[in-house]
Amino acid sequence: MNILGIETSCDETAAAVVSDGVFVRSNVVATSLKDHQRFGGIIPEIASRRQIEFIDEVVLKSLLSAKAELRDIDAVAVTRHPGLIGSLLVGLCFARALSRSLDKPLIEIDHIKAHLYSNFIQLTKESTACPFERLPAVGLVVSGGHSSLYYVKDFKSFKLLGSTRDDAAGEAFDKVARILDLGYPGGPVIDRLSRQGNNDRIKFPKAILPGSYDFSFSGLKTAVLYYTQKHKNKPDFSSAQVAYAFQESVVSSLIEKSLDACRKMKVKTLLIGGGVAANSALRSQLPLKARSQGVDVFFPPMALCMDNAAMVAGLGFHWHR
Ligand code: KG4
Ligand code: ZN
Repeated sequence: MNILGIETSCDETAAAVVSDGVFVRSNVVATSLKDHQRFGGIIPEIASRRQIEFIDEVVLKSLLSAKAELRDIDAVAVTRHPGLIGSLLVGLCFARALSRSLDKPLIEIDHIKAHLYSNFIQLTKESTACPFERLPAVGLVVSGGHSSLYYVKDFKSFKLLGSTRDDAAGEAFDKVARILDLGYPGGPVIDRLSRQGNNDRIKFPKAILPGSYDFSFSGLKTAVLYYTQKHKNKPDFSSAQVAYAFQESVVSSLIEKSLDACRKMKVKTLLIGGGVAANSALRSQLPLKARSQGVDVFFPPMALCMDNAAMVAGLGFHWHR
């Protein structure tokens, strides 16, 4: 069964054809990121206008590179929420019109759950995907808009255990990058810079929030701001060390909460998703800590950490069934 997925929740315009929920036949992504960079964050009005410009070509390219025609598509899956309303509307209207005109079912998908589904997708013949039999699992979605922990029983049953009380993890990376004048998006640049500052000279606080699976990163962000304002003109100030200390604090609270959830929910599988799943410190530290607790961690391939439509088509297959 071939599902055409469409994703337009933020600044990416994406379309993909996925067979049987797993095999990626095409995965096309266009982005308006460059248009937003000088503003230091996504401008919703610009994002939605670019979505309108890109959508036809992206969907067409996804069909061409899958060597498929519209009549080969069994259903259309599209991101319904959450996201920027103007951007979401472009994909939703396009997908609804397409499904009506083809007389094929339309499946509307939750973007956050789709991020977790990225772990089950076989992007290339060589890549290893999480087997379906590994469910139930705990799922951690960390992106620019969300930091949420789920108990995933099956593909229709996601129970929210906790989420951020203020900034999302990716948002904290973006804001700290702005404080340090590193540009947007902050995650990749802080990730790179941290490797030059990896010592424990600076320690930033970590929000514990006992008895809860919620996260909080705004106190940490404020600590980085005050530290930077106080020290930035001193000769030994190092933005690499600030970046490292900040990243360590975020990563250790993500690890602590998600492994705690695995223990309490008695599961041995931890799924990670969202843009922050690309973070190298998280990718190296989490599996080691998890193994000591008997938990296996799955990260999506890098290309599926960021917003994409393969994850939407993949989850769409299960909802369609
Ligand atoms: O999932 P995504 O593409 O979009 C949303 O749904 O929000 O995530 C984008 C977020 C940005 O905040 C970006 O700074 C962050 O993911 N990010 C990273 C890394 N790469 C992207 N954060 C930490 N380390 C990275 N390597
Ligand atoms: Zn996302």
